[in-house]
Amino acid sequence: MAIKSRLVLLSLFCLLFNTISGAAISPGSSLYASNLNQTWSSPDSTFSLGFIPTDPPTSPPSFIAAITYSGGVPIWSAGYEIRVDSGGALHFLSSGTIQLVNSSGDTVWDSDTASCGVSSAHLDETGNLILRNGTASVWSSFDNPTDTILPSQNFTVGKVLRSGMYSFQLLKNGNLTLLWNNSILYWNQGLNSSVTTNLTSPNLILKSIGILTISDPKLATAAIFAYSNDDSEAGDILRFLKLESDGNVRIYSSTKGSGTKIERWAAVTDQCQVFGYCNDSNPICGCASLNFEPVDPKDSRQGCKRKMEIEDCPQSMTMLDLDHTRFLTYPPETDSQIFLLGISACKVNCLVNSACDASTSLADGRGQCYYKTACYLSGYVIDA
Ligand SMILES: *[C@@H]1O[C@H](CO)[C@@H](O)[C@H](O)[C@H]1NC(C)=O
Ligand SMILES: *[C@@H]1O[C@H](CO)[C@@H](O)[C@H](O)[C@H]1NC(C)=O
Ligand SMILES: *[C@@H]1O[C@H](CO)[C@@H](O)[C@H](O)[C@H]1NC(C)=O
Ligand SMILES: *[C@@H]1O[C@H](CO)[C@@H](O)[C@H](O)[C@H]1NC(C)=O
Ligand SMILES: *[C@@H]1O[C@H](CO)[C@@H](O)[C@H](O)[C@H]1NC(C)=O
Ligand SMILES: *[C@@H]1O[C@H](CO)[C@@H](O)[C@H](O)[C@H]1NC(C)=O
Ligand SMILES: *[C@@H]1O[C@H](CO)[C@@H](O)[C@H](O)[C@H]1NC(C)=O
Ligand SMILES: *[C@@H]1O[C@H](CO)[C@@H](O)[C@H](O)[C@H]1NC(C)=O
Ligand SMILES: *[C@@H]1O[C@H](CO)[C@@H](O)[C@H](O)[C@H]1NC(C)=O
Repeated sequence: MAIKSRLVLLSLFCLLFNTISGAAISPGSSLYASNLNQTWSSPDSTFSLGFIPTDPPTSPPSFIAAITYSGGVPIWSAGYEIRVDSGGALHFLSSGTIQLVNSSGDTVWDSDTASCGVSSAHLDETGNLILRNGTASVWSSFDNPTDTILPSQNFTVGKVLRSGMYSFQLLKNGNLTLLWNNSILYWNQGLNSSVTTNLTSPNLILKSIGILTISDPKLATAAIFAYSNDDSEAGDILRFLKLESDGNVRIYSSTKGSGTKIERWAAVTDQCQVFGYCNDSNPICGCASLNFEPVDPKDSRQGCKRKMEIEDCPQSMTMLDLDHTRFLTYPPETDSQIFLLGISACKVNCLVNSACDASTSLADGRGQCYYKTACYLSGYVIDA
């Protein structure tokens, strides 16, 4: 009898201990990049926060502090692309702030909640890391997204997803946009024409069944923006929307525990239309002609430069024709850069205009000639 009651007590104690360690994160606790097994997890371990190696791996190894979905798919990180080496640590300080510290002891990311009276941190089963003062939420990872939106997360006007030079935002009128270098708009898509209301405070929500919607106080029901191609399919699947380093936004699904994700929808259907994007395999990055060479031969994504600057040219200049080539017309040409001209006159005018770097004339029936001025010129060649 005596032994039996001790066993009961012991198992009760274990249960209590597991619940606490699985749900709440105590002030004063830390995670270290030197021990990837150590994480702070949600009550049922669907999500966990810890250090993961960067993808692709680097030498020496570097790590990001990330929330991952069961199986290891990252869905949030402390800061945009902030890497630390194996000496890095994540501290939940007793002052109530979470800090990412690198091996020199410098704070490289901070939730900036030290003066908010935070008393607890909690990673919940939807993947949201919440800092609370008593009962009110004062900071959450859902309110501070990096490159991913999860079901039940509110993505409102003013919030930004970032990846490298690319950013994704929701406009006040409900349009979704993709920008390069915070300035060049290369994708801008509104709701379908069946929605004619002017929105006031739109909210982009990805439904857990894979439907991307925009809700607004002016809409009786949420308007549908896109369907993922596995929408409503059953299974223990997480759908999420992610801005990738290739400048495209996609909806993915990941089966619990698999550690892999499958593309279900992409915003920009032709990857070549993503401004400033290039890749060593598909599509291939290259310079416009042999007169150019890569800025850095080891990294073709940095673009190209002239082998000889035009002002240093001893001979007179000419225009070089690029067949089957399409310049991306972003940023949009200003009125002073568009003319009603035939392709030959367009070319000659550009040659004598010092501000013109290239010209193009689309065979789209509009008869327009476009000047491209000196800046980042991007385009693509269609395989003939
Ligand atoms: C982490 O877990 C793996 C496998 O469970 C184990 O082999 C390894 O020794 C652990 N590492 C540390 C630092 O605890
Ligand atoms: C740590 O971060 C500081 C500030 O950003 C930086 O100057 C320092 O080089 C970093 N140390 C390491 C080891 O990366
Ligand atoms: C928690 O924060 C909210 C909003 O910042 C504030 O109104 C409230 O007084 C705070 N509560 C405590 C217990 O600090
Ligand atoms: C999202 O917004 C709705 C409506 O404003 C709100 O009820 C809900 O709590 C929000 N969800 C999160 C995770 O903030
Ligand atoms: C990005 O924009 C900044 C300022 O808006 C500019 O100074 C910089 O040259 C741009 N970068 C590239 C690669 O064009
Ligand atoms: C919204 O997107 C549509 C294309 O779907 C575009 O025609 C319209 O100009 C955009 N509106 C704004 C304000 O950017
Ligand atoms: C939406 O706003 C525009 C510009 O303010 C206005 O011209 C238009 O009538 C409005 N449409 C509706 C349906 O309220
Ligand atoms: C257009 O939006 C309406 C309302 O959200 C939706 O029912 C319909 O399926 C959408 N049409 C297309 C082609 O996406
Ligand atoms: C290039 O494209 C391939 C195949 O689409 C992809 O696996 C790879 O990650 C891309 N590389 C970069 C640097 O984007």
